[in-house]
Amino acid sequence: MDASMTVICYFVYFLFLFNFTDAFRKDIFSTKTAYKFSADVQLSSVENQFMKAELNGKSCSAVNFQVLLRHGARYPGYKDIRKMSQLHEMLKIIVKSPEANFIHTWKNDFPEVMEKQLVDEGEEEQFGLGERFGKNFKDLFHGSVDSVDFYSSSKERCLDSAAAFYEGLTEAVIGESFDNLKPIIDDDILRFHATCKNYFHHVENNRSHLIHHKKFKTSSEMETVARNVANRLGVEHAELDAGDLKLIYFWCTFEMIILNKDDWCYLLSDEDKEVIEYHNDIKQYWKKAYGHPVIGEMACPIVNKIFNNFKSAIDPETRDSVGAFYFGHCETLAPVYAALGLFNDSLPLTDTNFELLRNRSFKSSKILPFSANIATVLYECPDYAEDGSHSDDFVVRMFVNEKPVVIPACDEYVCRFDDVWNFYLNHIESCNIEKVCGAKIRDEL
Ligand SMILES: *[C@@H]1O[C@H](CO)[C@@H](O)[C@H](O)[C@H]1NC(C)=O
Ligand SMILES: *[C@@H]1O[C@H](CO)[C@@H](O)[C@H](O)[C@H]1NC(C)=O
Ligand SMILES: *[C@@H]1O[C@H](CO)[C@@H](O)[C@H](O)[C@H]1NC(C)=O
Repeated sequence: MDASMTVICYFVYFLFLFNFTDAFRKDIFSTKTAYKFSADVQLSSVENQFMKAELNGKSCSAVNFQVLLRHGARYPGYKDIRKMSQLHEMLKIIVKSPEANFIHTWKNDFPEVMEKQLVDEGEEEQFGLGERFGKNFKDLFHGSVDSVDFYSSSKERCLDSAAAFYEGLTEAVIGESFDNLKPIIDDDILRFHATCKNYFHHVENNRSHLIHHKKFKTSSEMETVARNVANRLGVEHAELDAGDLKLIYFWCTFEMIILNKDDWCYLLSDEDKEVIEYHNDIKQYWKKAYGHPVIGEMACPIVNKIFNNFKSAIDPETRDSVGAFYFGHCETLAPVYAALGLFNDSLPLTDTNFELLRNRSFKSSKILPFSANIATVLYECPDYAEDGSHSDDFVVRMFVNEKPVVIPACDEYVCRFDDVWNFYLNHIESCNIEKVCGAKIRDEL
């Protein structure tokens, strides 16, 4: 084969690959989206690319960061594993479509004992994040991670995420990978949702709270998805309910992430996935973010910690660390978004707003995938007066999933620290968790 022929073959091959991978859009699996499939994530990094900020012509350099991450991709929970096996038993008997033949040989390959444990892909997500973070802020570390603090929730998937992140970070900062991390376990700042009595009362245990989520189950949009999936399976659409559709949707992403298989994916079109994503987003919105004021309020211990760490970093006398990483959950990150006023659409996510909110900013596939993260960074802008005295300015930037976001405090990408502090004063100076939550309840494991 001559060279030009080889080139053509490769071209056809790549075309085939492209079409194959494009057959299903990979980026819309709500909170079960792999980080690399989450749209707009910049997976390449440039040394020191986030070290600088500019405000009114002044050049500022990063002096401290506070980064909150959700753990990486994990196994499904055992309740879902059981439900999926039951759904499979039911489908095996009734499916008729030859395209759905895989159902007759399919096995549920996720052992219950592995439930919610970090998977290889999750480790890779965290390693990559650590590596890119180390690169993006290279000069801030001065070749060492000794003055960086690490916090984790007590859950194994968070501790494992922290360990993998640390390996990537040390690789980038020191040039050698270390695996000896001993993070500080702090559930008060990373699992507050599990012990907050008022949250339980107003939200978790409130039967009318998820009314929109419940109503959307029987919406015309969900009925259409049920009909589409039923057609592809060759069954009656009445035999599939919203819970079944969610399981199929989640097994599509879980098997892609963990087993590199996509059997279930072919039952869902892009449009179908968008509808199921919205259904799940309604729940995330009401249960974990803007559904009730107590949700943002109960995040105040970590918001308070982040901004007080900045306050200490402003004074060179008390500047003793370069920053901190916190490894938590979707239930940590989403309330922090709510406290910070991020991704707050002008309309609430209700059962009737699917069309109006197609371009909403509260899209969990983008803001709450596995390994989702928010980095808040403090920059110092040296300012020398003519008489030789100087009074430095400090500014803040925020990055969600490694992309700069507009900070609500000033509606810009770079805000003065004082403005940010004042904007979040309620969550900082007036943070009284006993008052917000009432008595502490036991963390149900
Ligand atoms: C329960 O949720 C509904 C709907 O969000 C809300 O109006 C109501 O105040 C909540 N109940 C309690 C006890 O907070
Ligand atoms: C979210 O947006 C709504 C409507 O624009 C507004 O009333 C509310 O104060 C916002 N909430 C937060 C926490 O910023
Ligand atoms: C959403 O954005 C897409 C692409 O930018 C656009 O075509 C569509 O009209 C928008 N829809 C709404 C409801 O704003």
